[in-house]
Amino acid sequence: MHTIDHPAEPFPNFYNDLNASLHYAWLMLGRATKDRKAPFRTPVMATQSDSGPQARVLVLRAVDPELRQLVFHTDLRSGKVTELGHDPRVAVTFYDAHRKVQLRISGHASLHTDDALAQQRWRDASPAGLRCFSGALPAAVCATPTDNDAQASSSEEIAEGRSNFVVLVVEIAQIEWLYLHSRGQRRALYRWADAQWGMDWINP
Ligand SMILES: Cc1cc2nc3c(=O)[nH]c(=O)nc-3n(C[C@H](O)[C@H](O)[C@H](O)COP(=O)(O)O)c2cc1C
Repeated sequence: MHTIDHPAEPFPNFYNDLNASLHYAWLMLGRATKDRKAPFRTPVMATQSDSGPQARVLVLRAVDPELRQLVFHTDLRSGKVTELGHDPRVAVTFYDAHRKVQLRISGHASLHTDDALAQQRWRDASPAGLRCFSGALPAAVCATPTDNDAQASSSEEIAEGRSNFVVLVVEIAQIEWLYLHSRGQRRALYRWADAQWGMDWINP
């Protein structure tokens, strides 16, 4: 017998399984790097600035479950790069309303400008995604509204942006999992310590 409030929504197989929930989290993160429409593709990253917290949307470009890494692209001249230079701690929050999963990830960011990783990601990125890096100084006041993407069109102009291109890698220290089910939420905490994931259910 099911009530109207709680129809027979099935329980997913990860519902009461800490390892399976973590596995599903990595699956969702991995899929988001390939599916432009996946809600996990555009998480919110928070940093510390001198005037308080700052949060913004970034595109998730790659993930590596073995290295516990999230990979983003950003502009060397952006506020977040200055903030991360002072304090590399970040929080990255993902929410998928359809799958009803929130991930709150925290870790440390490293910035890669001219190493092999930065070279490779610049080479492999689509030109359209690189046009903004040769645009005018981000966040500077401008006399008329501008569109940084529209400014670089030739491959020479796009190449000028290479010196502003940064690969931002987050090494994950902690993942907080929250799954919203109509018959009961599940919340779990995964902490990387001693070369393994410690995992606990916590009260929602
Ligand atoms: C859907 C969406 C995707 C975005 N993707 C990126 C991105 O991948 N990298 C980036 O630096 N900014 C991205 N932005 C812009 C940032 O949200 C932010 O405005 C910009 O990076 C400046 O942030 P900052 O001044 O805090 O550094 C995106 C914004 C939106 C709305």
